[in-house]
Amino acid sequence: MIRKIDHIGIAVPDAEAALAVFRDALGLELTHTEDVASQKVTAYQLRVGESSLELLVPNDPESVIAKFLAKRGQGVHHIALAVDDIDAEIARMKAAGLEPLSETPTPGAGGKRVIFFHPRTTGGVLLELCGA
Ligand code: CO
Repeated sequence: MIRKIDHIGIAVPDAEAALAVFRDALGLELTHTEDVASQKVTAYQLRVGESSLELLVPNDPESVIAKFLAKRGQGVHHIALAVDDIDAEIARMKAAGLEPLSETPTPGAGGKRVIFFHPRTTGGVLLELCGA
């Protein structure tokens, strides 16, 4: 079952400039900062109720976020949904014709198991599932 929006990922080139907007101007609380090795990014989580905004800053030119910024510029990158049973959701979504970007979940921010689904099968939105 999909429980809630876990976070919305926003690609930004400059952490300080983005924090000036989302932390300082909007007044959101920065709850967590983490280098996510699997995605070669630093993630800044800002709480919004039960969800968060996740600022994604590449720390390697080969990061998918660096490539996204080069191609599309800064802005919304993905929407992440929290699920109870990620393996069951993956099977259900694959059966519905949605296409995952990897065969199995990988460790994401906070050590949660995550997997992405290709935007061409999800209405143009890069979707992330976050397990427990
Ligand atoms: Co994410």
